[in-house]
Amino acid sequence: MPLNKVKQMQQQAWQNPQGFWADAATQIEWMQPVEQVLDDRDAPLYRWFPGASLNTCYNAVDRHVQAGHGQQVAIQYVSPVTGTEEAISYEQLQQRVATLAGAMANLGVGKGDRVVIYMPMIPETAYAMLACARLGAVHSVVFGGFAPPELASRIDDAKPKLVLSASCGIEPSGVIPYKPLLDKALDLCEHRVEYAVVFQRPQCPADLERQGDRDWQQLVEQAEPAPCVEVAASDPLYILYTSGTTGRPKGVVRDNGGHAVALAWSMKQIYNIDAGDVFWAASDVGWVVGHSYIVYGPLLARATTLLYEGKPVGTPDAGAFWRVIEQYRVKTFFTAPTAIRAIKRVDATASLLQGVDIGSLQALFLAGERCDPDTLTWASEMLRVPVVDHWWQTETGWPICANPLGMAPLPIKPGSPALAVPGYQVEVLDEQGQPVAAGQSGAVTIKLPLPPGTLMTLWNNDDRYRDGYLGRYPGYYLTGDAGYMDEEGYLYVMGRVDDIINVAGHRLSTGRFEEVLAQHRAVAEAAVIGVKDTLKGQLPLGLVVLKQGMDTDLERIKTELVALVRAEVGAVAAFKLVAVVEKLPKTRSGKILRGTMRKLANGETVVPPATIEDPDSLNVIGQALAQMGLTTAHQPVLDLS
Ligand code: COA
Ligand code: AMP
Repeated sequence: MPLNKVKQMQQQAWQNPQGFWADAATQIEWMQPVEQVLDDRDAPLYRWFPGASLNTCYNAVDRHVQAGHGQQVAIQYVSPVTGTEEAISYEQLQQRVATLAGAMANLGVGKGDRVVIYMPMIPETAYAMLACARLGAVHSVVFGGFAPPELASRIDDAKPKLVLSASCGIEPSGVIPYKPLLDKALDLCEHRVEYAVVFQRPQCPADLERQGDRDWQQLVEQAEPAPCVEVAASDPLYILYTSGTTGRPKGVVRDNGGHAVALAWSMKQIYNIDAGDVFWAASDVGWVVGHSYIVYGPLLARATTLLYEGKPVGTPDAGAFWRVIEQYRVKTFFTAPTAIRAIKRVDATASLLQGVDIGSLQALFLAGERCDPDTLTWASEMLRVPVVDHWWQTETGWPICANPLGMAPLPIKPGSPALAVPGYQVEVLDEQGQPVAAGQSGAVTIKLPLPPGTLMTLWNNDDRYRDGYLGRYPGYYLTGDAGYMDEEGYLYVMGRVDDIINVAGHRLSTGRFEEVLAQHRAVAEAAVIGVKDTLKGQLPLGLVVLKQGMDTDLERIKTELVALVRAEVGAVAAFKLVAVVEKLPKTRSGKILRGTMRKLANGETVVPPATIEDPDSLNVIGQALAQMGLTTAHQPVLDLS
């Protein structure tokens, strides 16, 4: 019985984590071997594999070349937006990464230095990450869709020695020059970055006139390959910023040792990928999915990873994914449910799949947001392979709950990401911290210690890590998600308990949107909530109260607010819905009732809380939603009885 097998593995990992992970650690080549598995002296902060050392780039690249696999394709780059494709072998990857590392070392980058990477989906972005790993430097990739102030806040927090960038990104809407965005961010930040190294793309070469600007290709031509530097298992490999409930992003810190062990283990046990297989995660290296499953995971496992610069639809059509799977014989494919919804919306019968041989495909994995059963069913019927919803987050770096296809394929229950992956002890707790009965909702938590590969802490901020994640239920990590478990241990994740929203698989903070809206001269108060959207899962909706006696040209103010959020947060925020209201619903102590408004917008029955200051304020919101046409899709129901 697959269920029993997975439960047995769960027991093994919980009862004997030392033995379980020591075994998994044999997939990695260590410089100083693993003698101790878990260091709990600083609990609740844990360190995996204390005393051991390695180099992550060596494990992802060099060792495969040394073992005679230099000619195997490491990265298959496919770029429908530029009409380019390139197969990069492990030997070529080693040579390019080592030379880039040499160029960075010539600029003074060494072990422990931070490097910010602000780049599109091109192979050079993966080279940049691996070159940092090679030098023992700590990379922090910032997603290209973020605007300069977001990039600046990350630079100020990480304090990098240099920034690596490219002259442009290419979106379906056209070429996006990155250099002006980078320059603006560098002007905004307090931290002084010594060098900005720019990879010139022919679609839009950048002017390199600013002090510290360097041409990537020129530096690489002048550089010698750099060797792999030994780092401790617990040294940081990267920082990846993610949205918290406040406007200030949180820098998730990943170690080298635990990360390498967990990802290598997950490639086989969860995704059923062996050396030589082709794995494709259609995400972006700016997100955790891209870090773990475009770059590190597949390369650690000596698979071929497909790096795709394009969209599910429109580049050129909704059949693009299927043709790529056919052409490159993809075995396991990973994307976000929103991408499948985008395809289904324009090609409901998957007509573009006709005549395309996707026989190589063995499974589709979906993550990044809740997978609605309709999307899962549609994809299963069209592709005729297991469609696996799996749940994880930037902080964990790899799946918390999944159907582990390489271990024992479980029966699929639409709406559930299946069981806790061995190593994670998932518990649903009530307000008092007591486990709830099967079928009852509560806060989804993970009993400490988290397995290897999960976050060590937040960059330069152990306190924020302890307070935000470990303080609510002592001995447990708070995921921020709510949900329930059925009798068989299948988890159902129903949504966030905080003010984080998920737009097209992108995690965004409503607190940050509110901060930006409050900057506008006419805005007295603002609240932002996530409303359901059939394509993107959620969309941000801004509800603003204007200052007395301000402009009465409401349309102009709304247009300005949309433009402001785009300029401050970025295009990826997809902020287009704004309503001007007379008042916001609040408690008597002045707390804005965001949760109540969210329910109203999503058509749930709303009973105004006893602490509400002015029950009529909810009617005001209901009317505004109706005027925006949101009532057709989400009929607000207000129970004022
Ligand atoms: N650089 C610059 N701009 C970017 C960008 C980048 N790397 N990525 C996105 N943007 C821009 C887009 O061009 C778009 O701008 P626009 O408002 O001018 O059109 C905006 O940000 C929103 O982009 P996106 O979220 O991609 O929405 P979309 O409407 O263009 O496409 C989907 C919708 C569903 C096709 C798309 O969101 C998608 O493919 N999602 C998959 C999600 C995913 O991979 N998530 C990662 C976790 S697995
Ligand atoms: P991120 O850190 O950007 O990966 O976002 C993580 C959050 O996305 C989680 O905490 C969930 O709220 C949501 N999420 C990701 N995958 C799933 C899933 N399979 N089911 C439900 N929610 C998910």
